[in-house]
Amino acid sequence: MNDIHSRIEALRAALGGRLAILGHHYQSDEVVAHTDYRGDSLELSRRVPELSAGHIVFCGVFFMAESAAVLAREGQKVHTPAPEAGCTMSNMAPAPLLAAVLESLGRAGRRVTPLTYVNSSAEVKAVCGRFGGSVCTSANAKTMLAWALGQGEAVLFLPDKNLAANTADTLGLSRDERHVLDIRALGSRLDLAAASRARLLVWPGCCSIHHRFRARHVAEARAAHPGCLVAVHPECPDETVRAADAAGSTSFLIDFTAKAPAGSTLVIGTEEALVHRLAKQYAGEKTVLPLKDVRCGNMAKTTPERLAALLETLDRAEPVRVAPEIAESANLALRRMLDACARA
Ligand code: 13P
Ligand code: SF4
Repeated sequence: MNDIHSRIEALRAALGGRLAILGHHYQSDEVVAHTDYRGDSLELSRRVPELSAGHIVFCGVFFMAESAAVLAREGQKVHTPAPEAGCTMSNMAPAPLLAAVLESLGRAGRRVTPLTYVNSSAEVKAVCGRFGGSVCTSANAKTMLAWALGQGEAVLFLPDKNLAANTADTLGLSRDERHVLDIRALGSRLDLAAASRARLLVWPGCCSIHHRFRARHVAEARAAHPGCLVAVHPECPDETVRAADAAGSTSFLIDFTAKAPAGSTLVIGTEEALVHRLAKQYAGEKTVLPLKDVRCGNMAKTTPERLAALLETLDRAEPVRVAPEIAESANLALRRMLDACARA
């Protein structure tokens, strides 16, 4: 083991049960090697309240660490080695704009339940909590959209228009029951007449990484590797999901690869750190190829050096803080998700 890795392991050993390190599947192999738990967004958020460690270090992007902080028990501190690691999709939904849009829809007489993808700020989750809504992840989006549709007249799904379309497709919601909101000019251009007819109102955001995976890439992969199986993340455009053999969360993609027969060729459409890890893991048994090589620059901001630097100063490091009034409403939204999924 090189210096940095032995330093991290020594720090982990010294902290023992006081520390738990969580890592998202998009973290690099060098970071993942030091995690106690690895998972998709749903698995990691479920894990947090069960942990007994006083210090939780979240290797991922900021909204994930923030959700962990909202779900953490009294006295637990959540840290992240790269607090500036944002998410392009999360940035597309500012909380004041969401609140303004919900208020306009409400004034127009619509009872709308907001459902935010977990890739959003704590403030956005708090607005959803206050308006009777909840949160979903890519792994439970179908369950949660069905839940939200059962709450009122319409659902506002945000920020990901691709996950919205793909989930609506799995529920069989027809195209004319959906309406993509025009949120420009601070929400003053909403088409309230169109919004009043739709059951699913869609925020026009997307992931700058997954939006690049196109149906033509799937066609090219099938031409280059006849008989290959293609699986993609549901943040990809709906045309890409329809062209693929399967779609699901990062954990689904891992499972799909594990279950594919020996000798198969799998083409996976998601962030490259995960695809390269799967390719290494199954080398000699199955061929795993990226649909396209794309790295999430924000996920890459967590490095072994930054993890070591955080662990060295953990007792005096500033944890992730969420203002109590935001945390309370965001917690309500997240708890509704955990409860609805426990019942499903
Ligand atoms: P998962 O919930 O599937 O882990 O995805 C999170 C994410 O940010 C994908 O871009
Ligand atoms: Fe956000 Fe996309 Fe990166 Fe996931 S891959 S963290 S959605 S920018």
